[in-house]
Amino acid sequence: MRFTAQGDVGVGPGAKKVLDVIAGLNPRLNLALGDFGYKAGLEKEFCGMVTGKLGGDFPYQLITGNHESNGEDGDIEKYVRCLPNKLPGLEGTYGTQWRADVPEQNPVVRFILVSPGIDFKNGGPLDYSRGSERWRWTAEAIDQARAQGIPWTVVGMHVPCFSLGEKSCQAGKDFTNMLIEKKVDLVLSGHDHVYQRSHQVGLGGRCSELVPANFSALCLTDTDGNLLQGSGTVFVTVGVGGVGLYNVENNDPEVGYFSAWSGKNRTPALGTLDVTATASELAARFVPAEGYSFTDSFIIQRK
Ligand SMILES: [Fe+2]
Repeated sequence: MRFTAQGDVGVGPGAKKVLDVIAGLNPRLNLALGDFGYKAGLEKEFCGMVTGKLGGDFPYQLITGNHESNGEDGDIEKYVRCLPNKLPGLEGTYGTQWRADVPEQNPVVRFILVSPGIDFKNGGPLDYSRGSERWRWTAEAIDQARAQGIPWTVVGMHVPCFSLGEKSCQAGKDFTNMLIEKKVDLVLSGHDHVYQRSHQVGLGGRCSELVPANFSALCLTDTDGNLLQGSGTVFVTVGVGGVGLYNVENNDPEVGYFSAWSGKNRTPALGTLDVTATASELAARFVPAEGYSFTDSFIIQRK
């Protein structure tokens, strides 16, 4: 089961080059991690660009970014209409908070897409605080996937928590630690226009939680590219789906959490994450768009 993932797309030449990469990889679905057209009124142009490159039946699956969640620079409701859900059995609210198992029968991956830390039309963020309805929805989706024996759990959202780019922990410390505590295999985000992939991090022993901007080596469970499922979580930000890049801060206090990173000032690259999941292994790599050379790869094996 192959899928691609990236966010922060735009409607320019970079977006088109990345869509060409996705088309060439021919994945079963693409996770579009928010920030699509960047401007009100560009929804149809964006959707036309995507369907022109990938076809009208391709599952280009949406989770909103901050640029369309509150309607100011575009409207997630319009994107949802012109790039509707294509995954059978999807539950929740497509575009904002949804989950789907792929394939629907004998699934290999449960995808859980959520929207903490960004403003919506009511003026504020949705409530993902500890014990809230959305927190419980997320936690139950993870627990149930494990109970059902689905091999892999992938959580996606627009905003990261840990980042070497410009952004702080918009996803929320508690919510992020809940994902780690539950040993979600892979957490994907965009928002910071960089690529960054963490080591596998986990709670337990002398690591009771990960604190943003405060590195603790005690929370690293595996630091090479060959990982074992069940030890912790890998975070990947793929905010390089087409728009202008941001710098990475090589001296960021969180740098110890990361294995690979790329930004405007360090091996810059637009591109996509490319993930192939089987019942025994999840293999991921960064595939750069034409004209870029940065790459990264890691494998998680099931015990
Ligand atoms: Fe963005």
